[in-house]
Amino acid sequence: MESLRDKSVVVTGAGDGIGAALARRFAAAGARVAVNDLDAAKAAAVAEEVGGLAVPGDARDVVPDALAALGGTVDVYCANAGVPAPGTEAADEEVWTGAWEVNVMAHVRAARALLPSWLERGEGRFVSTVSAAGLLTMVGAAPYSVTKHGAYAFAEWLSLTYRHRGVSVHAVCPQGVRTDMLTAAGSAGELVLAPTAIEPEDVADALFAGMAEDRFLILPHPEAAVFYERRAAAPDEWLTSMNHIQQKWEATRLP
Ligand SMILES: NC(=O)c1ccc[n+]([C@@H]2O[C@H](COP(=O)([O-])OP(=O)(O)OC[C@H]3O[C@@H](n4cnc5c(N)ncnc54)[C@H](O)[C@@H]3O)[C@@H](O)[C@H]2O)c1
Repeated sequence: MESLRDKSVVVTGAGDGIGAALARRFAAAGARVAVNDLDAAKAAAVAEEVGGLAVPGDARDVVPDALAALGGTVDVYCANAGVPAPGTEAADEEVWTGAWEVNVMAHVRAARALLPSWLERGEGRFVSTVSAAGLLTMVGAAPYSVTKHGAYAFAEWLSLTYRHRGVSVHAVCPQGVRTDMLTAAGSAGELVLAPTAIEPEDVADALFAGMAEDRFLILPHPEAAVFYERRAAAPDEWLTSMNHIQQKWEATRLP
């Protein structure tokens, strides 16, 4: 991998959690980091800490502001902002639409804005913070699982379409990570994610190891690969084991 010194990096949702850890890691590698977050105060605090540039606003349409802050060039774009979106098929339309907008369309719009210059230059790097829910699923969170599958599918499509033209894509798929989002996952997160949860810095470590090898699939929890294999090799057995977790979760929620 080329050096990140003086490269221009955007991290969305970087005011907290995994995004803040990514911003810190890119800054430590010498990059100029545009720190985006919906929460302007959080974006400003992390930007100040890492000597970066605060770009407050919604990740759904942040590329123009990020380009302006970085002087017209983005070398690495981390589509990290995401929304938890719990619920079943009965979740409100707004929950489904909000999850689709932030977890998928924000990535599509960023790629649409950045690809022309990356293809002209013959280089660019797109990092998608997906989730193991995008490879597997998450009990109790249909809109989250479905849209994270969408994010993974889009990252995969970008990679296969542009890899011969100098564009690198990474899909980062952690299981539980100790952030506010894990807390927001409630009792399902407590049951499924918390026991093996890692720190945001571990996710940054895994991404940097994957970038060094130019690897698409980044699994900060290596065991996710085993579950992914099981899902592909024996879908019904895998679904039955996931259903056992569902039943266990339901039992914890009985009055
Ligand atoms: N925490 C986990 O267990 C976990 C596991 C797998 C994947 N992820 C994914 O990692 C990413 C980061 O999550 P996190 O755990 O660090 O969450 P977090 O709640 O700690 O931080 C998310 C940050 O994103 C910001 N944000 C939310 N919507 C935004 C938007 N539309 N535009 C700009 N900023 C926005 C929030 O203000 C917050 O500062 C998400 O895509 C999430 O789905 C998290």
